[in-house]
Order: sequence, then C-alpha cells, then structure tokens
Amino acid sequence: MAAQDRMEKIVSLCKRRGFVNSASEIYGGFANSYNYGPYGSELKKNIKDLWWKKFVNNRSDIVGIDGPIILHPKLWEASGHTTSFNDAMVDCKECKSRFRADNIVEDATGQDLEGKLEQMKQLLDEKVNCPNCGKRNWSDVKNFNMMFKTSMNTTGVCDEAVAYLRPETAGAIFIEFKNILDSTRQKIPFGVAQIGKAFRNEIVAGNFIFRLREFEQMEIENFIAPDCDWQSMFEDWLVLQEEFAMELGAKKDKLRRYEHPKEKLSHYSKKTVDIEYEYPFGFKELYGLAHRSDFDLKVHSEKSGEKLEYFDEATNQRYIPHVLEPTFGLDRSILVALDSAYCEEEVNGEQRVVLKFPPKVAPVKAAIFPLLKNKPELVSVAKQVFDNLKTSFVCEFDDNGNIGKRYRRQDEIGTPFCITVDFDTLENDTVTIRDRDSLEQIRISSKELKDYINQKIA
Ligand code: GAP
Repeated sequence: MAAQDRMEKIVSLCKRRGFVNSASEIYGGFANSYNYGPYGSELKKNIKDLWWKKFVNNRSDIVGIDGPIILHPKLWEASGHTTSFNDAMVDCKECKSRFRADNIVEDATGQDLEGKLEQMKQLLDEKVNCPNCGKRNWSDVKNFNMMFKTSMNTTGVCDEAVAYLRPETAGAIFIEFKNILDSTRQKIPFGVAQIGKAFRNEIVAGNFIFRLREFEQMEIENFIAPDCDWQSMFEDWLVLQEEFAMELGAKKDKLRRYEHPKEKLSHYSKKTVDIEYEYPFGFKELYGLAHRSDFDLKVHSEKSGEKLEYFDEATNQRYIPHVLEPTFGLDRSILVALDSAYCEEEVNGEQRVVLKFPPKVAPVKAAIFPLLKNKPELVSVAKQVFDNLKTSFVCEFDDNGNIGKRYRRQDEIGTPFCITVDFDTLENDTVTIRDRDSLEQIRISSKELKDYINQKIA
C-alpha cells in the first residue's frame, strides 16, 4: 500500500472509530488541534500507564512528579528557552505559505544549515522554489521563538506578568531537584519521571499527530555522578526506549538510531541520540536520549541562588549531578501504535481492516455479544458476563446487527477478544471466545474468562 494511502486510511479510521479527530470542528476546525475520542483516550491512557509502570512503579531508582504547566518565567530565561528556543521561519511572498526555512532548504538541496539564517536566505533565493506554489520569491529568514506566551492575573511575578506554557516537561523536574532529594531516600544514580502536556508554537505543525503545538511528553531526568561510566547507562537507556516502542507494537526493523554529530550538539551535551521510527511518511524522530552534563542544575543554581547539589556520603564529596535524559513523545507513541497495528487482510473472501494492537495496548480488551438480540434469555446472560468482566477490563456489550458486523467493528478498534453467548451457554455455562488475530474460536467456561483474558494480556 502506498505510504500516502496508508496514512490517509489510518487518519480516516481514527475519525470513523473515535480514536482521533480534528478538534473544534463545529467552529470550522482549528489548525493542527486534535481530539482523542473514546477509544483514543483509552489507548493514550494505556500507553501512559505502561510507561509509568515500566519506568516508575517497577523500579526503585525512579520516582514521579506532576508539575504545573505554567512555571515561573525565570525558569525559561535561565534555561535559555526565551531567547534560543527558535526555529528559522520564511514566508513565500507569492502564495503566503509559511515554512521552516532549514527544512525546505535541506529537502531541496540536501544541505543542513540549521542556525545559519543568512546562508539559508541565499540558498533559498538561488535554488529553492516554494513547495506550495512553485514560485521563488522569499521573505527574509527570521528566527521565530516557539514559546507559547500567556499572561497571569497576578502582580509581582515578573515584568508585565508574562508567563509561558511549558515547552517541555523537564524544567519542573530540575527546579524540584532539592525537594525530591529531601523528601525521598534516593541516592545517586536516581531518576525523576513526569508525564504531561507541553506546548510549542511550531512554525509548521502537521502529519496528523506527529507534530502538534499542544502535545504530551513522558520524560525522565536521571541524575548521575559526574565521573561515572555514563556510556553504559546511555546504551542501556537506548535499549529500554527501543524496547518500549516494541511493547507498543513497533517492529524492530522500523526503528533506527540517529546520533547527532558533535558539531550539532547543544554546547552542554556530551551525546544525543534520536530513536527514529519509519512512519508512513518516512523515518523521523520518535524518542530522544541526551547527556545534558550539569547544565540544568548548574544554571538554575546560579540564577535562583539555591544550591542544587548532591552530597555523596560514601565519598564525602559534594557535586552538581549530571543528567541523562530519555524523552518520549506520547502522541508519537500513539501514532506508532496505530501504524504498527493497522492491517488490511482477506478473510474467507472478505476484506477486513484490523488494528492488531498488543492486548496490553488495546483500548477495549473484550466485547461480549448475545448471539441473537431478540432472545431475552441470551441477552440477559450476556449482560451478566459483561457485568462480571467490566470491573476487571475495559469491555463492550454489543447486540447490534449480525455477528459478522459486530466482529468487523471490534476488529477495527482492535479488541483482542470477542465473547459470544449462545444457546449452549444456557445449557452448560460455556461461551465462545474468538481471537482477533488467529480468528480461532474456542469454548470455555464463563467462570474461566477472567483468568483466560488476564493470562493473554500478561
Ligand atoms: N526535554 C527534551 C525535549 O523536549 P525534544 O526532542 O524537543 O526534547 C522530546 O522533545 C520528544 O517530544 C520528541 O522526541 C518527540 O517525541 C516529542 N515532540 C517534540 N516536539 C513535538 C511536537 N511538536 N509534536 C508532538 N511531539 C513532539
């Protein structure tokens, strides 16, 4: 299937089945703003829960926090975001389209001129036609700051009470370092995790939920000793990040690593690697891992006057910890789960669309059907089975249309198990359970259903 077709089919399924749709549609839509519908929000929650369990609950060396979206503006001044969190922007004077200048220069010439505005303008004028109208009449290339500004109804916070929506979740973790250290028994190396919204005024958002202006991140700041063997920890984290993507369904051969060349690293970073995934529109960043040295804690110590240090009782040394930061985009994780699961196949001469989510990820774990809607005795038992399962799993009861139609609907939302109550159930309390992927149907006692499904999910 052509990549463009595949993406369109995924987007259309997402809207049709209530995973993701353009937000604010009744007011004509709002650029690149998406709503996670009933199944999308279950899927999102499952991914967050899997991440939190894997990286926080199942480990003793990582704790979680939940910080605010609007933080003290001085944080973003100290971190350099208010001055340097910029992308190069250019407008086509003919059709008024707006682009990221570095991206269109690289696409057209293969040259990576990130940060070099004058050279970008020169190449644009000499060689690059507008990707939208094909003409060549460019504005100057300008730096565009991606921080979302807002204002606070308080006085004395800062000049004009300007505040910012956080562009990443990491900031709150750094400025809470001392509180976390004082309130837990963590010893270095240890990590602090957070899941939450981040906001970036992207020049060009797009590719569905790949690049958004409002998105969610799952980040961990691992605090390490300056002189430790960080290379092996770095490798371990890359493996964990790839492992997590595969738990969402990604195939190994659709993942690759891209190490940022030394000359393009931020001045404080010792090493940065992106985990890329092959989306229908090509290999692009999914997750990132960076060695951030002691930059963040040092700069916040200097600007706030609060010492963000660690005292190592074993060595009697006091130091500012260094940081390894694995960062995970939640919306991109959702896109990976959807793309990895999306499948079209022929079954008994009929075409079916199925989302083959790993059971842990699937928004609905089981659907319960009475064989016939007009047989009250079947409907009543099916409702009992549903009531019994719904406290353990997200389940659906469906008695609408024929069984084939009900299966097709559940296949499209990726439900791994469909349970049918039929006349044999009334006799011997057994039900059929149909496996979404193998289509195999077995009969089991309705009392065994919980264990059976639990085992399959685990
Ligand atoms: N604290 C480090 C940091 O924020 P980043 O590479 O800018 O690093 C981390 O962002 C992750 O957030 C990315 O790997 C990606 O998954 C996700 N992300 C970044 N910008 C995004 C956007 N505009 N829309 C959706 N996800 C985005």
